[in-house]
Amino acid sequence: MATAGKVIKCKAAVAWEPNKPLVMEEIEVAPPQKNEIRIKVIATGVCHSDLYHLFEGKHKEGFPAVLGHEGAGVVESVGPGVTEFKPGDKVIPLFVSQCKECRFCKSPKTNLCEQSWSSDRYAQMSDTDTRFSCRGQPILQFMGTSTFSEYTVMNQIAVAKIHNDARLDRVCLLGCGISTGYGAAINTAKVEPGSVCAVFGMGAVGLAGVMGCKRAGASRIIAVDINEEKFEKAKIFGATDFVNPKAHQKPISEVLIEMTNGGVDYSLECVGNVAVMRSALESCVKGWGVSVLVGWTHLHDFSAKPIQLIAGKTWKGSLFGGFKGKDSVPDLVLDYMAGRIKLDEFVTHTMNLEKINDAIELMKNGGCIRTIINVSK
Ligand SMILES: NC(=O)c1ccc[n+]([C@@H]2O[C@H](COP(=O)([O-])OP(=O)(O)OC[C@H]3O[C@@H](n4cnc5c(N)ncnc54)[C@H](O)[C@@H]3O)[C@@H](O)[C@H]2O)c1
Ligand SMILES: [Zn+2]
Ligand SMILES: [Zn+2]
Repeated sequence: MATAGKVIKCKAAVAWEPNKPLVMEEIEVAPPQKNEIRIKVIATGVCHSDLYHLFEGKHKEGFPAVLGHEGAGVVESVGPGVTEFKPGDKVIPLFVSQCKECRFCKSPKTNLCEQSWSSDRYAQMSDTDTRFSCRGQPILQFMGTSTFSEYTVMNQIAVAKIHNDARLDRVCLLGCGISTGYGAAINTAKVEPGSVCAVFGMGAVGLAGVMGCKRAGASRIIAVDINEEKFEKAKIFGATDFVNPKAHQKPISEVLIEMTNGGVDYSLECVGNVAVMRSALESCVKGWGVSVLVGWTHLHDFSAKPIQLIAGKTWKGSLFGGFKGKDSVPDLVLDYMAGRIKLDEFVTHTMNLEKINDAIELMKNGGCIRTIINVSK
């Protein structure tokens, strides 16, 4: 490869500071170091966690950065020590690594690898050990991935090799939102056949949660959102009932308890709002109800009455749907290729990288499920 071993100058959308539009810049991407892979990013989705960092997180750390963590691409070159990947391989960058050696990777109980950027940097949400620079200044790699750039560099423990026939402008969605919601239902909640579920928030994460509940055999899936325009999509993924909390005087948990004769077996919170997290727990049936936190926030503490848990409910959380990425993402790609899971139905818009701020505005205004950004040809 003509570019191997050299610095690559390429286009990237840089977040210089919070609450400002991204700026298209020429950045320099250093060659991969030991155990690293340089990836040509072909396509990426925009996830609410990108917006959270830019607008909602209220922290000044973690900038300037290149956002984006829902991408797919092709290996451009590999650093010393990399044997699992070669130039031309199709890959999905992972924001939760899988080193396969730490105590967490060795346990079947969790996907939280100790080597992840996220293991102790939640406030910053970025990897400070970056291969990016722009005008002589280091640019951080948001969630370790930075897919809003034509090229990125990742450690091989955070890259999944996928089938070479996979359509990259679809399977990129498995890099975050879809795996997250789907896995939260299947792996974390462990939804059982015949059960009654409620999913709060019908963005891509929540819709994927609905898809997971349906796949697990739920008999009734209640979609909850304050934006009724989302309900049409929810139906496609298997939702059977639709509730807009704003259309009711009573608290939403009371509405769901009445609808289900005592509460749902499983609920998923896919909004990132601590009040909704509480409602999702309170909507569960006593005795065995399980509520899973999927939405992201670190701004507020949550609260609940202890009797909720004393009465036998379980409150859990899920990062990346509980999937160990290197093991599971290649299989999820095959599931999509075989028609076992949907991805096309999540895509409402397609744009080039230059239009990234339009894609961000669309999500901010609730006008999309997922926008696919074509990053490079
Ligand atoms: N845990 C993880 O690993 C992980 C991974 C990806 C995303 N996330 C988080 O998941 C959440 C959803 O992400 P997304 O990309 O689907 O976002 P999104 O913005 O597309 O969807 C959020 C949905 O919630 C709805 N909503 C807002 N307030 C509500 C309320 N009070 N009650 C019911 N619905 C309400 C909105 O109308 C919207 O449809 C975000 O918080 C994101 O940061 C977590
Ligand atoms: Zn995400
Ligand atoms: Zn590990």
